[in-house]
Amino acid sequence: MFPQIRWRIAISYFILVTVVMAGLTAYLSRPGCLGDASCVRQSVSSAAVVLLILTAVIAYPIAARTTKPVLQLRQVIERITKGEWDARVLPQTRDETGELILAFNDMMSQLRQQHLALLAENSQYNTVQNYMADGVLITDNEGNVRLINPAASKLFNLSEKSALAHSFAEVVRHHQLIDLWQQCQKEGTEVTAAVEIGRELFLQVIITPFEEGWATGYLVILQDLTTVRHLQTVRRDFVSNISHELRTPLASLRVIIETLQDSALDDLETAVRFLDRAAGEVDVLTQMVEELLELSRIESGQVPLRLQAVNVTDLLLKPLDRLKPQAERGHVELILDLPAALPKVLADADRIHQVVTNLLHNAIKFTPEGGKITLKANHQDGEVEISVHDTGVGIPQEDVGRIFERFYKSDRARTRSRGGTGLGLAISRHIVQVHNGRIWVKSKEQKGSTFYFTLPVTTLADP
Ligand SMILES: Nc1ncnc2c1ncn2[C@@H]1O[C@H](COP(=O)(O)OP(=O)(O)OP(=O)(O)O)[C@@H](O)[C@H]1O
Ligand SMILES: [Mg+2]
Repeated sequence: MFPQIRWRIAISYFILVTVVMAGLTAYLSRPGCLGDASCVRQSVSSAAVVLLILTAVIAYPIAARTTKPVLQLRQVIERITKGEWDARVLPQTRDETGELILAFNDMMSQLRQQHLALLAENSQYNTVQNYMADGVLITDNEGNVRLINPAASKLFNLSEKSALAHSFAEVVRHHQLIDLWQQCQKEGTEVTAAVEIGRELFLQVIITPFEEGWATGYLVILQDLTTVRHLQTVRRDFVSNISHELRTPLASLRVIIETLQDSALDDLETAVRFLDRAAGEVDVLTQMVEELLELSRIESGQVPLRLQAVNVTDLLLKPLDRLKPQAERGHVELILDLPAALPKVLADADRIHQVVTNLLHNAIKFTPEGGKITLKANHQDGEVEISVHDTGVGIPQEDVGRIFERFYKSDRARTRSRGGTGLGLAISRHIVQVHNGRIWVKSKEQKGSTFYFTLPVTTLADP
């Protein structure tokens, strides 16, 4: 009955006024009262008092009942503000406050859905920007950094927090990047450029102005192309080196053929000598082509490894014996330094012989008379580490990082023309890597070099 508050209040007031008016009329209708001013005054005052009491008795419960859900609603709003998204009020009446609570609950459910969808979207967006390899930076129109992802923080070597408080210029500290941002701001269009930062970082930079809803600013994308650039350099050097290496024996062959054509054929002895030299040059070319094919086969995984549990001593002794005569001819001492016991390693013995032979051969080539070459092996952390130490010419610091590249030879090796195609270390590196090992070098000019490589220890039984 009368669920609506407005009806309840209207009817209550109607009853209230009717009762008081009826009482007042009855009072005033008493004989002689209307002519008596004090009786009229008394009647009106009594009516006022009755009205007051009845108002208090009838109106207060109505007001209390009406405001109770509103107070509950206020408490729930406070809890939601503090983050209790699921707090709700249960409607207890079917009046306007009940409808208000139902509408409020409905609105909160929808907001909650939208909030969850936004959170999911935000977390996907965060995952993308946190894990993407490219650096991303957003600035506002004034150039203040508003967002920086971890890749960009790493590139500029500062934390996200310290970057956010600063301008683009302070964060990137590079005049070319600042110029690019200013150019983008001036022209209002995307700018792209390749920027070299220091000697070791090569970036492709894209700066785009954006306008998304009410947000405007500049999106800066930094792609680290250092590895790509390095690979391009390696490829360029490879082509130049291979041309150079091929040209030398080919030029010799041409000279030999021309000499034979001119006159040497008449002199049988000279002709035979020239033909021997020609055969030597052809051997050099053949070896180079074979090494290249070998490298390409190993790189493309076409060489099947015959992995077995092998004795480290066996792996070292064979190449050592083979190179002894060469070391004696060069007057360098070859020393083998092995601990009493070494675990077996998982290796293809023939391939590892190739690696040790190349390292020993290089050491002999680059160590002057009277020098020492020490071949060592140690066991640590599930690996056996094999090293070849020499007291030779050493490798210039700028070449140390490159000698494992195909055809790379230090200038010292080139000018002294000690022979070799510069493929030995590239092949060795691949062989070690397919054994799940590592290979590296430490070297000091005029002091000597030490080449290290590791092989995994095996628990397999002997073949
Ligand atoms: N022990 C060493 N001392 C000094 N320089 C070295 C040593 N080992 C290697 N190098 C440098 O590294 C370069 C590459 O060595 P790598 O074994 O790949 O080629 P190479 O010996 O010149 O030719 P190849 O092994 O193909 O016959 C050498 O030319 C030399 O400049
Ligand atoms: Mg070599």
